[in-house]
Amino acid sequence: MYRSHTCGELRLEDVGKTVVLAGWVQRSRDLGGMTFLDLRDRYGLTQLAFDMETNAILGEQARKLGREFVIQASGTVIERSSKNKNITTGDVEITVTELKILNTSKLPPFTIEDETDGGDELRMQYRYLDLRRAPVLQKLRLRNQVALETRKYLDSKEFIDVETPVLIKSTPEGARDFVVPSRMNEGQFYALPQSPQTFKQLLMVSGFDRYYQIVKCFRDEDLRADRQPEFTQIDCEMAFVEQNDILEMFEGLIKYLFRTVRGVELVDTFPRMTYAEAMEKYGSDKPDIRFGMEFIDLTLLTQGKEFVVFDSAEIVLGINASGCSEYTRKQIDELTEWLKRPQIGASGLVYIKYNTDGTFKSSVDKFYSQDDLKAIAEKAQAQVGDLILLLCGEINKTRKQLSELRLHLGTELGLRDATIFKPLWVLDFPLLEWDEENKRYHAMHHPFTSPKAEDFHLLATDPGKVRANAYDLAMNGVELGGGSIRIHDRTLQSQLFDLLGFSKEEAQAQFGFLMNAFEYGAPPHGGLAFGLDRLVATMGGSESIRDYIAFPKNNSGRDTMIDAPSPLNDLQLKELGIKLR
Ligand code: AMO
Repeated sequence: MYRSHTCGELRLEDVGKTVVLAGWVQRSRDLGGMTFLDLRDRYGLTQLAFDMETNAILGEQARKLGREFVIQASGTVIERSSKNKNITTGDVEITVTELKILNTSKLPPFTIEDETDGGDELRMQYRYLDLRRAPVLQKLRLRNQVALETRKYLDSKEFIDVETPVLIKSTPEGARDFVVPSRMNEGQFYALPQSPQTFKQLLMVSGFDRYYQIVKCFRDEDLRADRQPEFTQIDCEMAFVEQNDILEMFEGLIKYLFRTVRGVELVDTFPRMTYAEAMEKYGSDKPDIRFGMEFIDLTLLTQGKEFVVFDSAEIVLGINASGCSEYTRKQIDELTEWLKRPQIGASGLVYIKYNTDGTFKSSVDKFYSQDDLKAIAEKAQAQVGDLILLLCGEINKTRKQLSELRLHLGTELGLRDATIFKPLWVLDFPLLEWDEENKRYHAMHHPFTSPKAEDFHLLATDPGKVRANAYDLAMNGVELGGGSIRIHDRTLQSQLFDLLGFSKEEAQAQFGFLMNAFEYGAPPHGGLAFGLDRLVATMGGSESIRDYIAFPKNNSGRDTMIDAPSPLNDLQLKELGIKLR
């Protein structure tokens, strides 16, 4: 028996017991007459005490233990004279009578404690050591709980967990595929799934009715804090459903998860907003509605006053930063510079301050009278002490830039409290998205998404205006998940592929299997997928999903611990029939 108890288990009630603990040496303190060690395992920390007077040999042995040595210690539980309220075992310590080194350790490259001196890169390179730290472990336990409760909920709703293949043919979800060469079929490649989309639809044709899978997906795209090349979806599909059935089912899941895992009661009915409204009010399809600061269209009020910049703009939009009229020149200059960075690309920022004495001060006083500014302030529902910030230009770009500014200010003003959770369904996404570079349409969600019946007539005449039966769940500015009601009719699916610029032959070669299946009694169906990593990170109050993944990749898509990707040797390449250019 390696241990009788874990390092997080012993309490005052255990005083007097003889116990055996095993774990890692986190720290030792040599106080002359006494030596103390903190012994750590997954469950917590326990203090080991060595009395140099009663057992000098053992004490000497303890003093020689290095950080992260793996040891086994036997002894008696005693009450501590100076208790440590910060740890659960802080009332007791072990008077050690026997000590055994189970393994030694090199000095770790960073301190393995809640607060560490290790930088990001170093911690990723030694991720197995980083994972020993309680805050990191905590995040992965949260993930485990979310996955477990997800299974419980979906199981209770009759969903069947089905595994789908990983070596497949490309599914277009908007990113590049990772591909795997086939040795047995030289010159041919599998693609790793960007999602199990087509398989879950085939399962509906098979009559499975309700499917789910917690599944790895792979996308070769530029990485960000909320994007990894391999990530996990809670992927779901249902037959004989309409959009509302799906929204209700998965609203139920999210509420259940927040309740059971976080003890948070979300609003009973999640608010819903159309894509068009979200773009108009927040310039984003995943608005953070923890705070207001909605966009105000000031085009009409600002144009025609000989301010060329506004006059020549397609749109002039403002937001009201409440209580910020005291922003200094320096602060506004900093905001302007921040907006001008290439990532955002604004050409400038106009401000209007509603001074505490009731007057207005703006960066465009030359063009606008006090009355003009007052009219703008009224439209913006600004009060004395507020600051209105304006951007202008082409509609979509201006919305995007102002959305960034809104989020930035929201963060600066402390309006984005990580312990508050505001879900929002965004509905009626456009079916198609115009790709200016390649002069063609792309499916905004994916090509299996159905157009809204009332927009069918636009398919031939004005496809860009067609709305889809597609929805996303946003929370706190993060897209947690998305899905759609699917096409289940071969003719319509084929029409969609035409619109997307596939020739009949290409469509048949790539998706013939799905369209053929639609000819054998495909039921109406739809579904959605949540990003598990994003869901857990959001629940944990973080915008970065990396900490919630045991072995994540860095921003260049590398795993620096195992050093992947890496070259293949000549023999491997030869077997695969691959010659590198
Ligand atoms: P979608 O492409 O919207 O839909 O993906 C669903 C959810 O997966 C998460 N996600 C990601 N998370 C981390 N890193 C990434 N690179 C990444 N990409 C996506 C997001 C997103 O909302 N098959 C459809 C679902 C459906 O229609 O049922 C799909 O994959 O949280």
